[in-house]
Amino acid sequence: MKHSVITNLSKTQITTYVLPLFTDERAVKDSVLVDTFSQSIKDFIQKVAKDAIVAVGSIEKIILPGDEIGVVILLGMGEREKYNRRKYVKVVRALIQGMRNMHIVSAVLEPSLFIPSGTAFVESVNMFATNAEMANYEFVAHKETPKEGWYFVQELAYYTDQSQKDLVVTSLGEGMVVGEYMTHARELSNMPGGDMTPTVLADSARRMAKDVGISCLIIDEKEMATMGMGGILGVSKGSVEDAQLIVLEYNGAEKSEKPLVFLGKGITFDSGGLDLKPSGAMNEMHMDMAGAASVISAICAIAKLGLKVNVVGVCPAVENMPSGQSYRPGDLLKSMSGKTIEVVSPDAEGRVVLADALTYTEKHYDPALVVDLATLTGASIVALGTNASAVLSPNEEFSKEVCSIGEKSGDYMWPLPMWEEYEGDVKGVFGDVANAERQRRQAGTINGGMFLYQFAKSFTKWAHIDIAPTMTTTDGQFLSKGASGTGVRFLVELARSMSL
Ligand code: BES
Ligand code: ZN
Ligand code: MN
Repeated sequence: MKHSVITNLSKTQITTYVLPLFTDERAVKDSVLVDTFSQSIKDFIQKVAKDAIVAVGSIEKIILPGDEIGVVILLGMGEREKYNRRKYVKVVRALIQGMRNMHIVSAVLEPSLFIPSGTAFVESVNMFATNAEMANYEFVAHKETPKEGWYFVQELAYYTDQSQKDLVVTSLGEGMVVGEYMTHARELSNMPGGDMTPTVLADSARRMAKDVGISCLIIDEKEMATMGMGGILGVSKGSVEDAQLIVLEYNGAEKSEKPLVFLGKGITFDSGGLDLKPSGAMNEMHMDMAGAASVISAICAIAKLGLKVNVVGVCPAVENMPSGQSYRPGDLLKSMSGKTIEVVSPDAEGRVVLADALTYTEKHYDPALVVDLATLTGASIVALGTNASAVLSPNEEFSKEVCSIGEKSGDYMWPLPMWEEYEGDVKGVFGDVANAERQRRQAGTINGGMFLYQFAKSFTKWAHIDIAPTMTTTDGQFLSKGASGTGVRFLVELARSMSL
């Protein structure tokens, strides 16, 4: 989508005007766009506005009467008092989704009328572009094109005054980069498991890295064996697809600056292995590489934005399948760390592959911080529903920081405790660490975090983010069905907060 900036309304060909409308005001206020209309049109708009339904994200289309050619979109903002960043992102997406439904491909709007509380104008503009891109995406690659074509918004024109033009152009550009890389992440996740194999994911990462000029190292199973990555290789045994360890490096700062390391779970399909998932529980498991997709996409976005920070991405890409060669319940896998992993459940595979990724990180880097994104447990969905990802970190201060960056970015997060009382549950009987809780099936998300912690003890700042709750979009988010691209905005915001 094109995000253009205009400072003179007479110079645009676009004849659709977006006007925000607050419930408690029931009138369009302070709009330069409205001021350009004739008095009779102004009266007409205000009359419609008075009776319009203005719930957050509701849309009312007005075809201008008389000689005036044009369409006005009244966009419901809810009550002005309650209007905030969370509402803002919804309103922007609702606009785009509404435009797509109404087959409107371009519109003019005044970004200054949308600024939510606690947000600077430039930041709000940046968010506008990101969320507009998010709402303009739909996974249609494998669908027959309808006769009239797909309806996507082609252009938004932002009306601002001359003095702010450059600032707005820059912010829109930055917001658009993040939106576009979220689209990349969603596209990777939405691809079916049969197409998006570990090799294809690695190739995609290589291609995306090349596009932005960052390095991409792919480690194959032979090299993994040399490094002793018994976790990744163990999970991969049941699959005919070869596992790949994807390592991305972006150097935006001096070599001496410690890198941020992002890990992403890249299970390209999670059948549950010999702990085969029941029907119904398996059909979204091609998105079990959403963590990896977000890490890869976020690092490319960070590179494209040229943030002054060093970032490393480590993503084990593996398929978890049942077969005569599969790893079994009771198997003892020798991880790269030297610790043995007792396989209580072959369906708790994410933590097993991430264990080796954490050790790889420890051996190759001296990170400023480590964050992993993983669709790790169904239990996190039970705990939080679909509104927030779970944050697990033994460093409570860092956990808080992560949650607040999440809130700011739009990737909402909530902490769970990582008290040492929970650590007993990851003790193995015949091996060092058990990959699942044996009997009680309690606190599954904390248990997953505790398992990973056994391989993350050398890091002073480490957080595990269980993104299973936010893996897919949900009703009311004004986004198309499927993968959400969760975590991309968070990682970019985290890198921005660390950028020099
Ligand atoms: N990938 C799943 C978790 C998941 C479930 C993600 C639903 C997104 C939506 C993970 O590998 C898994 O199977 N976890 C098990 C852990 C258990 C065996 C300890 C689970 O949640 O049941
Ligand atoms: Zn999984
Ligand atoms: Mn699983």
